[in-house]
Amino acid sequence: MLYEHPATAVRPREQDTAGGATAVAHPNIALIKYWGKRDERLFLPRTPSLSLTLDIFPTTTRVELAPGAGQDEVTFNGVPATGEALRRISAFLDLVRERAGSGERAVVDTRNTVPTGAGLASSASGFAALAVAAASAYGLGYDATALSRLARRGSGSASRSLFGGFAQWNAGVDTGSDEEADLSSHAEPVPAADLDPALVIAVVNAGPKDVSSRTAMRRTVDTSPLYEPWAASSLDDLTVMRSALLRGDLASVGEIAERNALGMHATMLAARPAVRYLAPASLTVLDAVLQLRRDGVLAYATMDAGPNVKVLCRRADAEQVAEAVRAAAQGGAVHIAGPGPGARLLDEAG
Ligand code: DP6
Repeated sequence: MLYEHPATAVRPREQDTAGGATAVAHPNIALIKYWGKRDERLFLPRTPSLSLTLDIFPTTTRVELAPGAGQDEVTFNGVPATGEALRRISAFLDLVRERAGSGERAVVDTRNTVPTGAGLASSASGFAALAVAAASAYGLGYDATALSRLARRGSGSASRSLFGGFAQWNAGVDTGSDEEADLSSHAEPVPAADLDPALVIAVVNAGPKDVSSRTAMRRTVDTSPLYEPWAASSLDDLTVMRSALLRGDLASVGEIAERNALGMHATMLAARPAVRYLAPASLTVLDAVLQLRRDGVLAYATMDAGPNVKVLCRRADAEQVAEAVRAAAQGGAVHIAGPGPGARLLDEAG
């Protein structure tokens, strides 16, 4: 049976009498990683990536037009944004305004439900929710594909959160035309058999990270001798993973995801200077995952630009996996997630 993607209902803008729109989006975790851009301005990736959108820690964002205001006003969980965070949101809104032919500033209210200190990035759900809410507030009338392209310009991984379940972000064509590249680089749903997967997230406390993922991926592309081989093997990983998803082979999906993530970390370790996100406790969790496999439990690890470890397993085994990694995570929290829905507008009641 084919896995049914949770509905991705992105409606064109309705006449919003309140002069704004509210959207919700969930984080996604890449099983085939996005690591490296070929165009920094357009956020075009070097390789396609494939992720699972989660059902936990959504971001809800309201964008309200503020006629006459001199600048955008942004709050995160009620706290005014300043500096780089404000600049990033404003630059993104500039793009939306340019497309809408509008000069109106906006008031943006973002609520993240990721527990403080969980060390889980919220830029994917954040820019997906912002793209949907801002496109609607400014009257762009975009469909999910156009919104995925737009979200990509805020943070590459956000392009995938427009879709529920498994999603692939295409790298896009390279014809020499910016427009063609931009149009072809968006996410789309990936067909999959009924895998009933879960991701167990082991939060490894390792303090704030020294190098942002954006800087780290740039440095890796520019200096790591392992980057090109990884990028080439990632294309193969993607092809093989897609057929594993179709036939419902969760063990193969996990095996490919784990080698793709470890390979990505190898490219960073070989960068000059090296970027190392793995902490001692991350390795302890990786050991626990190995032990689970020795004990016959389907469990495979993936890691992003941080020390946390996410373990792909069967939903039925999720509690057992959580128990095993909890001890290894050395006091960090453990969360269990399943497949979640794509980004969507909320109506005024919702
Ligand atoms: C390791 O999407 O945060 O999580 O496009 O520069 O905003 P920017 O980067 P971002 O990078 C995510 C990298 C990753 C892998 C992934 O999600 O595919």
